[in-house]
Amino acid sequence: MTDSSRKILVTSALPYANGPIHLGHLVEYIQTDIWVRFQQQRGHQCTYVCADDAHGTPIMLKADQLGISPQALIDQVSQEHQRDFAGFLVNFDNYYSTHSEENRHFASLIYTALRDGGHIERKTITQAYDPVKEMFLPDRFVKGECPKCGAADQYGDSCEKCGATYSPTELKNPYSAVSGATPVERESEHYFFKLGNFEAFLRTWVDNHVQEQMIHKLNEWFEAGLHNWDISRDAPYWGFEIPDAPGKYFYVWLDAPIGYMASFKNWCDKQGVDFNAYWGADSDAELYHFIGKDIAYFHTLFWPAMLEGAGFRKPNGVFCHGFLTVDGQKMSKSRGTFIMAETYLQHLRPEYLRYYFAAKLGSGIDDIDLNLDDFRMRVNADLVNKVINIASRCAGFIKKFSGGELAAALTEPALYADAVAAGEQIANCYEKREYSRAMREIMALADRANQYIDAAEPWVLAKQEGQEQAVIDCCTMGINLFRVIMTYLAPVLPQVAEDAKTFLNVESLGWNQIQQPLLSHSINKFKPMMQRVEADQVNAMIEASKATLAATESQITPAAGPLADEPVQDTIEFADFAKVDLRVVRIAKAEHVEGADKLLRLTLDLGGETRQVFAGIKSAYAPEQLEGKLTVMVANLAPRKMKFGVSEGMVLAAGPGGQDLWILSPDDGAQPGMRIK
Ligand code: 2FM
Ligand code: ZN
Repeated sequence: MTDSSRKILVTSALPYANGPIHLGHLVEYIQTDIWVRFQQQRGHQCTYVCADDAHGTPIMLKADQLGISPQALIDQVSQEHQRDFAGFLVNFDNYYSTHSEENRHFASLIYTALRDGGHIERKTITQAYDPVKEMFLPDRFVKGECPKCGAADQYGDSCEKCGATYSPTELKNPYSAVSGATPVERESEHYFFKLGNFEAFLRTWVDNHVQEQMIHKLNEWFEAGLHNWDISRDAPYWGFEIPDAPGKYFYVWLDAPIGYMASFKNWCDKQGVDFNAYWGADSDAELYHFIGKDIAYFHTLFWPAMLEGAGFRKPNGVFCHGFLTVDGQKMSKSRGTFIMAETYLQHLRPEYLRYYFAAKLGSGIDDIDLNLDDFRMRVNADLVNKVINIASRCAGFIKKFSGGELAAALTEPALYADAVAAGEQIANCYEKREYSRAMREIMALADRANQYIDAAEPWVLAKQEGQEQAVIDCCTMGINLFRVIMTYLAPVLPQVAEDAKTFLNVESLGWNQIQQPLLSHSINKFKPMMQRVEADQVNAMIEASKATLAATESQITPAAGPLADEPVQDTIEFADFAKVDLRVVRIAKAEHVEGADKLLRLTLDLGGETRQVFAGIKSAYAPEQLEGKLTVMVANLAPRKMKFGVSEGMVLAAGPGGQDLWILSPDDGAQPGMRIK
């Protein structure tokens, strides 16, 4: 390390421990990893930590639904997340969990400091309560009709139809998305962080630590007023109990950013590094958070205010990025563009995506688009045809004419010097997270290298007698330019950089090493470092993404109901099963439902009684195939009000979904109304 080396701590947002990593997540982890690798390559002491965000109601309910403990769920998801990040060459120094003793310690410490500083207030509030599940319901878990436009099945915080925002108590005909029960209102005392106490501090802080594009948003928030923030939740809740408040838990977003500290502390303890040198109020280390623009409020207001109130240092920068679209649209499960990290890796090499994202990413908060045709063409044109091609055009001649030894001098020192000089501008772009500009500059160097080789025509010289040295000289230039270019690309293409090191027979690709060209130096045999991306591979990934979705829905799944999109894997006691009234029914009528993509309206004859049930089986059956046939229904399911009417039960379906869904039984003498257990 040099005197000018900086101490830098970098984080990416902590992914929730209840679902897989997809390409939308990866924009951020790839963006951060490139920045960290760049800093390390420049000789700085840059540490990158992350963790799973392991608390909160959705994780508690998901574990409940799967019939496993929250601990078992977060352990399993952590393994999957780490596998996927490693697959994309995201190189954390430490990957931890917010459900850790370090995090409990820091969450309690920060809370206590805020309380003692007079920044916590208690207030009794009224909230929706699920009397069946015996829990308070977060806004997203209460559904009902929009109080403004009347649209059915809207969440408790906002209407997807008319955009209105409101509180769950304002919903008409509300129901719990957990149990389907009608919520009741119940009072409870909550703990609030008095964000307004920090307004003066925050107004100054944001000016120097947040991107220009975000400042505007922050000003809007200041104008709207900084409200007290509810940091407590009542039991049952999966999280840390508040030290002086039995039965009250820290809201997941309170301990999530503290998870950055906890993961770093865990690393410090393993490495023997002084935690306070990084987090103390007078630390000279730099701290940067990479996040999506949707969670800016937490990171640019709550988080610096919490750190300020508890006497810790604040971040030097909070870097927001935009969202990912695929082929110009939101990622879509049905189009197969909701691509999981794991699915991508089964078909394509991680560095293709790392390069494509780098070629698209700037320092702002604009969304970036993964256009799948452009992706394939750009990777092939830039990396395979341009960059790797430089090495592959020259390597064979060096082997053939000098046994692998490069010439003793450069014949075009100015061309080499220009490429080295470009390094400062490229470094500047990386530093400022202007990766797309960096990639353009690097590709311009690759173009110049190829033009040089085109003009020198070593393949023509190679056939001429007495031109051996000219061929070696030309290819020595080519190989040296390749080394410079690979040095610049190493943060983006770590595995290709490793292969390039082996080929070039060098220990490292340090930014400063290119000052000295490789001369009178033996290189190794060239092996192709990257294959072209083929359209078939991309198509196969899209098809696999569609299939992955179908597979997650292939368990016996309610054809309609509040959790219709979620796999159901709970184990239940026999007594619970015994409560289910399964009946053979005749489908008296089957109809299309106007405005519904998946549903059919079934009129079911239970032998004397008829019921209306909405079933998500339109992909598999035309209404006329169903009428008169027998099927099995759950007859004692509580009626559910859906967007298109009330569903009075549920028909059972089996199969992976799409056209392969079966709900019919052969008519072998079963009578409508017959109980089947
Ligand atoms: O939005 C999310 O996915 C959160 N899990 C991010 C948390 S970042 C940090 F604060 F922990
Ligand atoms: Zn509405």
